[in-house]
This record gives sequence, structure tokens and C-alpha cells, in this order.
Amino acid sequence: METYNFDEIVNRRGTNSYKWDVSDKENFLPMWVADMDFRTLPYIIERLQQRVAHGIFGYTAVPNSYYDAVTNWFVHRHNWLMQKEWIIYTSGVVPAISAIIKAMTQTGDKVLVQTPVYNCFFSSIKNNGCEVLCNELIYEDGTYRIDFDDLEQKAADPKTTVMILCNPHNPAGRVWTRDELVRIGEICLKNDVFVIADEIHCELVMPGHRYTPFASISPEILDNCAVCTSPSKAFNIAGLQIANITIANNKIRRKVDRAININEVCDVNPFGVEALQAAYSSKGAEWLEQLNAYLYDNYLCLCEFFENNLPQFPVTKLEGTYLVWVDCSVLGKPSDELCSELLQAQGLYLNEGTMYGTSGIDFVRINIACPRAVLIEGLQRFKNYVVY
Ligand SMILES: Cc1ncc(COP(=O)(O)O)c(C=O)c1O
Repeated sequence: METYNFDEIVNRRGTNSYKWDVSDKENFLPMWVADMDFRTLPYIIERLQQRVAHGIFGYTAVPNSYYDAVTNWFVHRHNWLMQKEWIIYTSGVVPAISAIIKAMTQTGDKVLVQTPVYNCFFSSIKNNGCEVLCNELIYEDGTYRIDFDDLEQKAADPKTTVMILCNPHNPAGRVWTRDELVRIGEICLKNDVFVIADEIHCELVMPGHRYTPFASISPEILDNCAVCTSPSKAFNIAGLQIANITIANNKIRRKVDRAININEVCDVNPFGVEALQAAYSSKGAEWLEQLNAYLYDNYLCLCEFFENNLPQFPVTKLEGTYLVWVDCSVLGKPSDELCSELLQAQGLYLNEGTMYGTSGIDFVRINIACPRAVLIEGLQRFKNYVVY
């Protein structure tokens, strides 16, 4: 088995990187937006190089082998057997979510989200003329749990027609258990609330936890959801813009397909199609295993750093994703202010918790998908800011 070197520092400056090239300050250290500072799986690079060598990049058809790659991956890795007819490809999970909301709501409907949560959910809901309805997660003992009474009550509102589930959850770091997903699924079924399951982080799971595809729980739940997946987060190929929506219910799938076409996000590019097939392969599975082990060690390294140096900043338990949510309430300063001071004083760019809802006011989100030496440098800068 090949061993991959995640310690290698790859210079990303000057590559039009959204993460790195937002600043030309020499000491700039970005640990914000959710992409990784690792090179992707070498097999993806090889397949892309072959595709580039062909030299013609016209409009792209999606071959049968693409659907086989997706269905094989999910059944072997996640024990979820989907049919290839259920899959709609598109250019990203955010465009997917937006189109599903368009298909499943009417203007003025309420869409449930579990805050703090990925910020683009808010804009997708509002851009489709709907209202954001927050089922606040409960922060307790360094982790988050669901307020099911509140969820039940909000799902019962006749104006609530859709819920966006983030599984695993960004930024709370939870990988929802099967029992939690069953309860969510049942509440939504009972109240006729359609579920959009954003499972983009599903490959990024820490030891001791297991991702359960929401749609795999029961035939009834399968029939009442759309699942959005992509290899983009786990394989660091977000720029290739490829994602899938899986919907078993024919009628709903036709509606969503129509919305994908109306929103003109029904075309994908040759590189995304190639990369996805290379990612969802046995080589991809081996690479992911090593990546997840490296990310877990990064998480442990961060926890140790905070425990030894900054114990007054509790680190939220990370069960999945590579995005660590740190409680900075001890500073008594809103996180947007804190992040702008950190950037100014230390060149360290983190995400302010307020992006993810008002309950994020005391938190920052740290992206730990970088070589360990870079992580340690970032943590040191955080400490420098706090201590001086
Ligand atoms: C939960 C979640 N969904 C979607 C996305 C973005 O998806 P895409 O780039 O495919 O639109 C992100 C990116 O960070 C995310 O965290």
C-alpha cells in the first residue's frame, strides 16, 4: 500500500486560491474556508493529466461508469444501496440545495436549520423567498445535542415545509448517530417536512464514530429526502465543481431535476466527472483512511495545545469534518471582532462563529486540514494574540 505524505507543505500562493490569495501579506496564514492544504489523491491527478493531454474540453456527457462509481462507493463504504436512476449530477452542493428548496417550497415557507450551521444554508433559503427557522443546537459538556422538543414544535408549524440537515455537522463537529437521525426522520415524516440531507462531509469521520446516510434508515425516510453528496471536501477537489443529489421518489426527483435546469446548474465539466470516478475507487478509500488518521492526529495535537497553553478556551469535540469549533467566550468579545483583530495582529485568518448564526458569537472555526507544522504555527499565533 502506498503511503501518502500529508506533512508536505505545498505553496498555494499565486494559484488563485480562494483561501490563500485573498491577501498578499507575507505573514498571512489562512485557516478558514473549508478546503485542505494537501495535494489530492495522486490517482486523481493522473486521471486528470490524461484527460488534459487529450486537449479537447467540449461539453461533457456523464457516462454509466460515473453512476457505477457513485453507487458502488456508497454501498460498499456506507452500506447504502442507491439506484443509479435516483442520481442527479450538478455543479455543487450549494447549487443543489438551492434548487431543491426552489422545487419543494412556495414563497414565504419556513425552512428548518440546526444552528450554528454552514452559512450558505441561510442565503439559499432567503434567495428562494423562504424564511430561516432555527432549531438551535444545545451546547453542553463541550459538544452539541439536538433540542428535539423544539424541533418537533417547529416542524409542526404548517408553514414549515423543508428541513436542511447537515450530516456530519459543520461547524458543530457532530456525526449524527443513527438514533438521532431516526428521530429527525420521524418528526419530519409526521409533519410532512421534506428533508434535504447535506452529506458533503460524510467521508471525514473521526475514530469511534460512524456516518449513517440519512436515506438508508428506512424506506419511508428515503422517500422523504434528497441527499446531497460530493467527493469535493474529502478529496480536496471543490474547484472541480461536481456533486450529486440522490432522490428515490420519482415525482420529487422530476421536480428537482426541473429546478436544476431552470437554475442552469445541470452541466458539469470533464475534470469533475473524471475526478469523481478516480476518488470513488479502492485507491480513494486507501488515501482517505490515511487522511482521516492524519486529521485525527491534527485534532489531538490541537486539543493538547489548548489544554497545555490555553485551557480557558474549550475545544468542541470533533466527531467529523476538519473544522474545529473553539469556545472563546472567556475573552468576552464578539467573534467577528476577535477574528478581525487576529488577522490584523497575527495574520491568522479564522472564521468567526457569527457567520453560522447568532449562537456562534463566542466561537471561532479553525480549519485543521493542513500539514502539522502549519497547524502548530497557527495555534502559536492564536496564543500570541491571546497572551499579549
Ligand atoms: C455543509 C456544507 N455544504 C456545502 C458546502 C459547499 O458545497 P459546494 O462547494 O459543493 O457547493 C460546504 C463547504 O464548506 C459545506 O461545509
